[in-house]
Amino acid sequence: MYELKIIIASTRPSRKGPSVASWIVEKAKDYKEFNVELLDLALINLPMMDEPEHPRLKKYQHEHTKKWSEIIDGADAFIFVTAEYNYGYPAPLKNAIDYLSQEWSYKPLGFVSYGGIAAGTRALQSLRLVVSAVKLVAIDPAVNIPFFAHHIDEDGIFKPIDSMNHSAHTLFQELLKWTPVLKAMRDKK
Ligand SMILES: Cc1cc2nc3c(=O)[nH]c(=O)nc-3n(C[C@H](O)[C@H](O)[C@H](O)COP(=O)(O)O)c2cc1C
Repeated sequence: MYELKIIIASTRPSRKGPSVASWIVEKAKDYKEFNVELLDLALINLPMMDEPEHPRLKKYQHEHTKKWSEIIDGADAFIFVTAEYNYGYPAPLKNAIDYLSQEWSYKPLGFVSYGGIAAGTRALQSLRLVVSAVKLVAIDPAVNIPFFAHHIDEDGIFKPIDSMNHSAHTLFQELLKWTPVLKAMRDKK
């Protein structure tokens, strides 16, 4: 079993991230190779980066960092579920990435983005650059959901169309290719 952590990037009250994330979490459970855990940055509630040392040294001084480090250390693969804020991705996700370094390294990362006409793709462009710095292995293709609000019902449930389910399946197939290979590589070190 591989530990797949699905991270919700947005934290604001009334956000829609959890609706989209619940869908991808349920889809992930179809793939028995993964033990799936949802990580909600709103609940994890990291303060703005407050560690004095560079994260690559792992000399963490705060309990919240030690806890976050342990959670991400335990992962074999990730999916970031992200909104697009002003053509970028939400600041809490950048903060959560910056807190750590080695814990992310050589682990595969898939994306689910949502937004208006651009489906969150502009956010992913900048996110790909950032994740490469901590040696996350960003995989393609991503699941990009345009006009996502049209697919959320009055109870807040995300109702995908076929193409979205298909694209999610492709994402999991890719994750399943990369996850064992990268785990074997990490175990060798
Ligand atoms: C600060 C802010 C900036 C936004 N900028 C964009 C944008 O650049 N592109 C876009 O497609 N939607 C944009 N939106 C609309 C979001 O797609 C929509 O509000 C979505 O629900 C945000 O995700 P969340 O609900 O999980 O926070 C923006 C929303 C906010 C709150």
